[in-house]
Amino acid sequence: MTQPVAPRAATAATAQTPATSEAAQPAVAPARAEVVVDLAAVRHNVSVLAGKAAASGAATMAVVKADGYGHGAVAVGRAALAAGASWLGVCTIAEALALRDGGITAPVLSWLDLVSDDHLPGVAAGVDIGVASTRQLAAVRAAAITAGRPARVHLKIDTGLSRNGCPAADWPGLVTAAAKTEAEGLVQVVAVWSHLALADVPGHPSLDRQAARLDAAWRVATDAGLRPIRHLANAAATLTRPDLHYDLVRPGIAVYGLDPIGPPPSGFGLRPAMAFRTRVALVKRVPAGEGVSYGHEWTTPAATTLALLPVGYADGVPRRLGGPPSGVGGMRVLIGGRRLPVVGRVCMDQMVVDCGDHPVAEGELAVLFGPGDDGEPTAHDWANALGTIHYEIVTGLRLGRVSRTVVRDPGKATGGGQAAADPGGGRSGSMTEGAR
Ligand SMILES: Cc1ncc(COP(=O)(O)O)c(C=O)c1O
Repeated sequence: MTQPVAPRAATAATAQTPATSEAAQPAVAPARAEVVVDLAAVRHNVSVLAGKAAASGAATMAVVKADGYGHGAVAVGRAALAAGASWLGVCTIAEALALRDGGITAPVLSWLDLVSDDHLPGVAAGVDIGVASTRQLAAVRAAAITAGRPARVHLKIDTGLSRNGCPAADWPGLVTAAAKTEAEGLVQVVAVWSHLALADVPGHPSLDRQAARLDAAWRVATDAGLRPIRHLANAAATLTRPDLHYDLVRPGIAVYGLDPIGPPPSGFGLRPAMAFRTRVALVKRVPAGEGVSYGHEWTTPAATTLALLPVGYADGVPRRLGGPPSGVGGMRVLIGGRRLPVVGRVCMDQMVVDCGDHPVAEGELAVLFGPGDDGEPTAHDWANALGTIHYEIVTGLRLGRVSRTVVRDPGKATGGGQAAADPGGGRSGSMTEGAR
């Protein structure tokens, strides 16, 4: 894998002096489990995505909702902006304000605020807001009056995902209301936009159908005198459908190096940015015939060495990854260069690895998943075993209990790269100040 694999003490020692007092503490308590984020991989991935967008004349909005898909929104956002993105996308005004608190002044779109949400802080902070109904437009308008500045809005049409977005029947009414509010000087209609249902199936006919509906909705807006841009493409469409780039693309998962289309890998040279690792807490030799973990669902077939890892489902390791019958089985962990099986049930705080007769030491690094470069499992492997998607894996780790270390330039500094610990586990932007 590309992340430096330094002992915890070395990681803390190589941390750059962070800008915040919280992160400026000299030492970080040893992590039981740690997410390591490789910002060089993020920059690489964004340059691939932004390069594709630029080739068709589009700008790039890096999606950093859900705390940057678990990678750290401010650190990823700043890395993405440095690598060619010019916008950031989030789900809520609270997420947008966390970016502003982190010093990010670039355009930020917040797209899933509720009519009942307080839009005022977003409008006051110059956050662009996705609007899908006249009721929400009224809420944004009221916020603009209070803020004393026009709100920047992106009108969202439902083109076939049947999720968030204005239904086609209500669209003319929303456009008319938006044009009136723009004439009042209370909003600026920046964009007409939508979201694809099947972008990971690039040839699916629904993509063209959704694009045609977006075009029709945009024409209604331009006929009403508005001059919005258009945006539609997520990561999969950014990589595979240049004809759908319009003015702006909104890639998310590929920013983090996870393939939006494969497996098999779709060949865009993305680099996974997250590794999840821990250290062996205890090593013991156990005779044949001993039951392991709750329920004794696995019994040692012969004398063997067991390694205890201090990480479990309360940290975000799905219990179903444990051995059968409770789990699906097949979970491996990379210890000492070997992929070794997790045996028995995954518990709340711990799990057991069967090391056979291989030597293993307490304190040794155990990689649960990573880019896969050294043979460690990947987030994709976990997702496949569980019948889910890697999006759910990387956003499902329990930051706070699990610490996060952001590495700006792996390999630049000996051993640890340039790293900063994230003691807040993703709270606000504290660690990310130090990371960049
Ligand atoms: C509206 C919108 N745009 C873009 C994205 C990014 O999608 P992806 O991570 O598949 O690139 C998302 C993610 O769910 C989204 O909700």
